[in-house]
Amino acid sequence: MHPMSVAIHATALTATAVTPRQVAANGPIRVAVIGATGYVGGELVRWLAGHPAVVIVGLVGRDRDEEPIGRSRPHLARIDLRVDAALPETDAVFVALPHGQAAALVPDLAAAGRAVIDLGADFRLHDPADYPRWYHFVHPAPELLARSIYGLPELHRAQLAAAGDHVGPIVAAPGCYATAAILALAPLARAGLLGDVVVDGKSGVSGAGREPRPDLTFGEVNENVTAYALGGHRHTAEMEQELAVVSRLGGHGAPEPITFVPHLVPMTRGILATCHVRPGRPVEQAELDELYRAAYADEPFVSVVDEPPATKHVLASNEARVYVKWQPRSGRIVVLAALDNLAKGAASQAVQAFNVLYGLDERTGLAALPVAP
Ligand SMILES: NC(=O)c1ccc[n+]([C@@H]2O[C@H](COP(=O)([O-])OP(=O)(O)OC[C@H]3O[C@@H](n4cnc5c(N)ncnc54)[C@H](OP(=O)(O)O)[C@@H]3O)[C@@H](O)[C@H]2O)c1
Repeated sequence: MHPMSVAIHATALTATAVTPRQVAANGPIRVAVIGATGYVGGELVRWLAGHPAVVIVGLVGRDRDEEPIGRSRPHLARIDLRVDAALPETDAVFVALPHGQAAALVPDLAAAGRAVIDLGADFRLHDPADYPRWYHFVHPAPELLARSIYGLPELHRAQLAAAGDHVGPIVAAPGCYATAAILALAPLARAGLLGDVVVDGKSGVSGAGREPRPDLTFGEVNENVTAYALGGHRHTAEMEQELAVVSRLGGHGAPEPITFVPHLVPMTRGILATCHVRPGRPVEQAELDELYRAAYADEPFVSVVDEPPATKHVLASNEARVYVKWQPRSGRIVVLAALDNLAKGAASQAVQAFNVLYGLDERTGLAALPVAP
């Protein structure tokens, strides 16, 4: 029996001083997925298997010994790849582990010169003090938080592209709820219009991963809607961090603390964030339309739509759809964002950031349209 994947050490890797751009210039990029047996890991394999510039050289899972990927993720059975406890030689590593686990692995991977795209929370927050506060652990590599990049291409495209010229970059793919809320609210933050904000989030059950839990059984979730984490959901931290960055870039102060209430709804995939904002001054619908149009006109994966978007409009795609409405009677702006938590909220967004890091066309491997019904 192999040790758990937390025992994987990148010291087994040969140290390299090659940058992502140099790797991309020399043919297919070797990638590995750690946590390949999970929901996000399996989704990463699905997107990467169709990516023309990469070759998947390794799938890593705890206690796995050359196990065909189809055994843990039957929808991937047609792919001839096996899950093992050992990490092979690779150029880039996608890490899809529960929070706290990546923090133990990533320092060795980065030190060995591998590009790391972490899909958990361990490198999203720049202030080390946020980890005990929101995640209840002391970060073992706080010095890496300053140089890890929050991998939301719509906000940090230039930073991701510049990191492609450095050895061992760390990209922290955003959380699913956070992606939806930040895309919904960033245009308002940039314009200094974020006053009091309430984010009402609704997620499908896959957002909680595939580890069995009594509150996630069919009998509990079916025909039921529950709010949770009323004491403060962890994604609030990254929403506030990133919206403060956008607000500062727009020449404004840090926005007020966000009230975020997530809900579990009886569907498999999808997130709808409904954001209620009281701006500092009255606005007009035309002003909002122009703000959002300008913010997302050139974005390949974010559309501003005329009708409220639904989770099924974006299912299994890298799309996010945003809708904004001024409600003059109450003096609030309502902004909706819909996305697939496992795609634009996780795996395909990580591939989008990877593409920017490696200097590829950002849309490479991400052309799949949403699935319906
Ligand atoms: N689900 C989403 O919508 C979503 C969206 C964005 C980001 N994320 C983040 O992505 C990460 C993975 O989430 P997920 O939903 O894919 O979870 P998941 O379905 O529970 O998968 C977790 C993966 O990590 C492995 N694992 C669990 N505990 C481990 C341990 N102690 N040591 C080593 N490996 C361990 C599991 O292996 P086994 O198969 O052996 O259990 C599995 O491969 C999390 O950090 C999550 O917050 C999730």
